[in-house]
Amino acid sequence: MSKKPPQTAVIIIPTYNEADNIGRMIDHLCTKTFVDIAKSSVLTSDWQMKILVVDGNSPDGTGQVVAKKAKKYPDVYLFTETSKDGIGAAYLKGFKYAMEKLKADFVFEFDGDFQHPPETIPVMLEAVEQGYDHVIGSRKIKGGSNPKGWGFKRLFFSEIGGLTARFILFFPFKNFFKVTDPTTGLKVTRVKGFVDKMSMDYSRLLSKSFGYKLQLLFETLKMGAKFKEIPLQFHVRNAGESKIEPQTAKDIFRVAFLLRWRDDFTQKFLKFGTVGFVGYLINALFLSFYSRLWSIEWLAWLLSTEMAIISNFTLNNVWTFKKDQISGPIAILKKFIQFNFTSAGALLIQTIAGTLTVATFGSEYRQLALPFIIVFLVLPYNWFMYNKVIWKKK
Ligand code: GDD
Ligand code: MN
Repeated sequence: MSKKPPQTAVIIIPTYNEADNIGRMIDHLCTKTFVDIAKSSVLTSDWQMKILVVDGNSPDGTGQVVAKKAKKYPDVYLFTETSKDGIGAAYLKGFKYAMEKLKADFVFEFDGDFQHPPETIPVMLEAVEQGYDHVIGSRKIKGGSNPKGWGFKRLFFSEIGGLTARFILFFPFKNFFKVTDPTTGLKVTRVKGFVDKMSMDYSRLLSKSFGYKLQLLFETLKMGAKFKEIPLQFHVRNAGESKIEPQTAKDIFRVAFLLRWRDDFTQKFLKFGTVGFVGYLINALFLSFYSRLWSIEWLAWLLSTEMAIISNFTLNNVWTFKKDQISGPIAILKKFIQFNFTSAGALLIQTIAGTLTVATFGSEYRQLALPFIIVFLVLPYNWFMYNKVIWKKK
């Protein structure tokens, strides 16, 4: 008897009109891939491998082929949808079934048309044994590739589309560099802490079609998944036709944009920027007003700057950082004083950097330096102070 810890991995294969592929695929997985996994000297778990086909009620008899195979192999399951609801919906139905009925520890997303080589499955299992929570097959890293048979147009769309999606979703943060193939279809995800924390209600998907890939990737990374890419040699389809439609590209960009736009971080940052801009307007307005009212120059500067500080503090408190709002007169007063100090810090940074720039490059660079100092020094400083000091999470 083996002492290896048993774990269950469910290979979920959505199908629509894959009658010419799915039988062969199931045979290959059960008689070759799963046997290799059981015999592997590298893998340290006792992997219980299961296949779950989620069929969109294909008219070509895919369901019958799978039902036959399920009689032959005890670890093959068929879930038949009432209708074709899109690949994203099919996967969420599959995840739910795999968790509830098959006690999955890991769920694979796997195509039924041999475009994903079955030999990648043990490689991905190796990665999850090393502690990774989300492992995807990438065509863009060393060892990965696009199908040899792809024409220029398909290649172009895949490359530019993938890069644009990466950019919209993650630029300029670390995931932009870590995720090289955001639209890939080959994935494995840990159930505990990740898939079991997701809503399986597929009406929540921004796209029930191929765009769901981006959404689940984005959400899983947001949950803090340990992430890894393995090389994927994406093959040409074995038989049948792709279900990708012409509107898929547009759909993918829409989903990428919405994910980034609705993200908490984005919303907070945009509000922070707006409040900063309003602060600038208030500063300028009161500066002109006070300087016309009296002729004490320094007082006009001091008071107008303080007006901007009051505006920044108030608007950020009730809007940008609403979730961590400061309330009660004593707390507000204390934080407001602290806020004046951090604002003075920003003033100091700007003064020093501005003076140094002019001293180094000459006064003709004064105006050019200002926006750079604001964007690269003052903004990051304020953002940091607001998040980590003033509106620090409890
Ligand atoms: N149940 C169900 N319902 N299955 C579906 C549906 C659906 O609406 N649409 C597609 N499928 C199944 C297909 O039968 C196939 O097994 C699998 O999902 C992948 O669909 P394909 O139609 O073969 O997609 P593709 O090869 O064009 O696209 C692949 O590459 C893309 C990246 O370029 C997939 O791996 C995509 O997920 C990936 O984004
Ligand atoms: Mn395919």
